[in-house]
Amino acid sequence: MNHWLRTLPKAELHLHIEGTLEPEQMLELAERNRVSLPYRNVDEVRAAYEFEDLQSFLNLYSQGMTVLHTAEDFHDLARSYFHRAHADGVAHIELSFDPQAHLSRGVEFEAQFEGLNRAMRDAERELGMSSALIMSFLRDQDAEQALDVLERAEPWYERIAAIGLDSAERGNPPEKFRAVFERARALGLPRTAHAGEEGPSAYITSALDTLDVCRIDHGVRCLEDADLVARLRERQTPLTVCPLSNVCLHVVDRLTDHPLPQLLEAGLNVNLNSDDPAYFGGGMMANFSACEQAFGWDRAVFRKLAANAVEAAFMPADRRARLLSDIADC
Ligand code: ADE
Ligand code: ZN
Repeated sequence: MNHWLRTLPKAELHLHIEGTLEPEQMLELAERNRVSLPYRNVDEVRAAYEFEDLQSFLNLYSQGMTVLHTAEDFHDLARSYFHRAHADGVAHIELSFDPQAHLSRGVEFEAQFEGLNRAMRDAERELGMSSALIMSFLRDQDAEQALDVLERAEPWYERIAAIGLDSAERGNPPEKFRAVFERARALGLPRTAHAGEEGPSAYITSALDTLDVCRIDHGVRCLEDADLVARLRERQTPLTVCPLSNVCLHVVDRLTDHPLPQLLEAGLNVNLNSDDPAYFGGGMMANFSACEQAFGWDRAVFRKLAANAVEAAFMPADRRARLLSDIADC
């Protein structure tokens, strides 16, 4: 089954590129850029990967990304992940990035976009992988700052497939960003948002109502509200679920307690993702095989999950048709 899962063409829609920073690369980039970290070696970095909740992870994640300075750093980071994902049978990746976390350290848009775009072009040419970029806003920061960042990104709008909303969820409801998402809509940019990861199901409803999102990132807490489940089912709103992330951040105690089987049973449009693979125990194959172990799903279920991701992806129609046909033939 593991071999077959690897050959299944997969699209990853929920992936924070800063969350792909493996300890080895963190230390290498720290040395390259003379950034001092509180770790002397890979084991010390890994020892810090015991999270109590989303916030404890975000603290480490924010510290790790301080090693990223130049276009070359962003390029090398994304290039490394493209290669690992390719080995996992991933055919398409939508990379989220957090520009505010870099702008606040004096790392300009130019370096971020140039480095990421170069890695995306290389992956297309060298590995035949397609990709898209999602520019995410930090929900624990001011909405005014997010609006300013959106305006400043104007020279790069053509390179952005969508905008997103991430970081500390509780106490930062979607409606805080209504004006930012209205502006993105006016600009013709599609929208997605993290909701219902740690935050309540009401945040999912608000993301649909006030941000007019086309997908929900996580969304696992939707089961708390039957009307919301009915709405998500009717509209077939894609939920980009991240099973191992939810275990590591204690959204669920064990993978066997994860609501994925109930989400599928309810007829919801679910797909599988790794979120922050360097921090949460691995990439797409780790997530797919852990689900196979936990839920005993057969090939038909995994084909459906893979097809759901491709249907929900930002990609040209011919690419979508090709991948759907490859999944059906797999
Ligand atoms: N940023 C990176 N990973 C995240 C997650 N799982 N939830 C919210 N923000 C994030
Ligand atoms: Zn995420």
